[in-house]
Formats: sequence, structure tokens, C-alpha cells
Amino acid sequence: MGRVDGKVALVTGAARGQGRAYSLRLAEEGAAIVAFDLCESVPGVLYEGATEEDLAETVALVESIGGEIIARKGDVRSPGDVEAVVAEGLDRFGYIDVLVSNAGVSFLARSWEISEDDWATQIEVNLTGSWRVAKAVLPSMIEAGRGGSIIFITSGTAHRASGNMAHYASTKSGLEGLCREMALEVAPYRIRVNTLQPTAVRTPMMDNQGLWELFTPGQDDRSLEERRQGMLDLMSQFNILEVPWVQPEDLANGVLFLASDESSMVTGSPLRVDAGYASH
Ligand SMILES: NC(=O)c1ccc[n+]([C@@H]2O[C@H](COP(=O)([O-])OP(=O)(O)OC[C@H]3O[C@@H](n4cnc5c(N)ncnc54)[C@H](O)[C@@H]3O)[C@@H](O)[C@H]2O)c1
Repeated sequence: MGRVDGKVALVTGAARGQGRAYSLRLAEEGAAIVAFDLCESVPGVLYEGATEEDLAETVALVESIGGEIIARKGDVRSPGDVEAVVAEGLDRFGYIDVLVSNAGVSFLARSWEISEDDWATQIEVNLTGSWRVAKAVLPSMIEAGRGGSIIFITSGTAHRASGNMAHYASTKSGLEGLCREMALEVAPYRIRVNTLQPTAVRTPMMDNQGLWELFTPGQDDRSLEERRQGMLDLMSQFNILEVPWVQPEDLANGVLFLASDESSMVTGSPLRVDAGYASH
């Protein structure tokens, strides 16, 4: 008996990184998956976006463990794309019990140097996009009368400054507020809303040349591998457990808990899977 047997989960940003790990872990424990991803790079973001091949790989991995999955390419910035994937999920599976609102991008700049375009895109993808997907899922969740679980992936930056992330941190802090408000409103329907707050995570968003260089200023004489190691050494000081970052699989266990009935009395709350990042 799986821990989320019979449930259906919509996972945004499912092509790679955390979204892939969430899809796999939930499928392992019996959930059917509706996977959604942009599968393109976002202009202004320093690292490459996911691809359609990445999304196909998530599908193949879920199917290889016997899971059920449908996948659609689309943008959380587009109400039409979001409504289409929700409709497709409902058409195929009948209901959606769990939303893992995970799609996101990360721009980097000091607060006074952020362009109007980058600010707008950052807010539109991470904050407005997350609200938009939840808004699209909730009416059918309420109507189905099965309860439900909405999980927003936020970040330690919602609590602690790290520099160059004013726009990003604003989206993650905003999601914490959205979580509390939404949790209050949907509680009468036995729908719970929580956030999962990671520290740095080993995914392309964090493990890329732009960040290795940002963390090791003025060290152009060092190799890229040395600069990456320099970044990891610095990041290790931010967490109280002796790790520079956590793995997507560490977070997937947290998402599984919040998606399952084991957390039936947990709502309006952040779950920190952050190696102690926000505790000091
Ligand atoms: N990596 C970290 O250190 C870290 C730390 C804390 C929180 N987070 C958050 O975790 C979440 C997942 O990020 P990740 O680390 O797996 O990075 P990632 O870049 O590997 O994955 C993000 C996924 O979101 C998708 N995506 C981006 N914009 C989209 C859009 N407009 N519509 C649909 N899909 C879109 C991407 O294509 C990608 O597959 C993000 O919300 C991120 O902000 C990441």
C-alpha cells in the first residue's frame, strides 16, 4: 500500500530537478502524475532552461517504475496553458488531489540594478504563476469533496537574506503569505495549503557557471571546477548540517509527507527541509 495510493498530483516544473524528483517519489507511493513544464529557457536567466527531452525523461522514469503519468508543455504565465493542463488532468484521471507548485526561475542582481523586465518576469513566473495554477485547480478540488493538498515550493530566502535575490526573495516571501491566506479559505473543504522551504538544492538552478563565478569574485585565474568547489565551501557555512546543499530526493520526502494523509492536521505552515539554514 503506497502512502499516496489513489491520489492524483499535478506537478509544475516537472521536467527536471526537484519537479522530476517529486513526480517520481509521489508515483513510487501510488499517485498518478500530471506533469507540466515550460521546456524552454527564460530570457535573462543565467542558466539554460529544461527541454522537451527532459520532460520526456521524467515521463519515462515514472513509467519505468509502473507509474501513471501524462505530461504537457506549457507556461505558468499563460492562463490558457494552465487551464488546459488542469482540464487534461481531470479528463484523464477525474480529479486532482495534490498540487506541487514548483515551477520557478531565479534571476540574480543587486536590488537597484534589477531591470523592469527581469523584475516583472521573476514575479510573474514564481509568484503569480503559482497563484494561477492553484486558482485553476481549486474549483475542481472543492467540487470533488475529497479534500486536497497544495504545496508551494518557496525558499530559505523567504527568511534570510543572501544577496542579489531581492526579486526572487520577494516572490518566495509572497508565497508564504499566499499560503496562509489560502489555507484559511479552503480549510472548510479539507484542503490544506503548505509551503516547503529548501536551502540550496543541487539542481541546474544552483549548480551553474554563473553562480560559481558570482560566489568566487576576482578568481578568474582558477579553473571552473575550482570555482565550483569554492562556491560549495562557502555554501557549507550557511547550513548547520555539514552540507553545501540538499538533494532533490531529500525534499521529495517532505513533499510526500505534505501530499499524504499523514499530514492531515498540517496546514498554513512552512516545512523546512533546509539543513538548518533558517535556524541561525
Ligand atoms: N535550486 C535551489 O537551490 C532552490 C532553492 C530553494 C528553492 N528553489 C525552488 O525550487 C523550485 C524548483 O527549482 P529547481 O531547483 O528544481 O530548478 P530547475 O531550474 O532545475 O527546475 C525548475 C523547473 O521549472 C520549469 N519552469 C520555469 N519556468 C516555468 C514556467 N514559466 N512555466 C512552467 N515551468 C517553468 C523549468 O523548465 C524547470 O524544469 C523553484 O521554485 C525554485 O525557485 C530552488
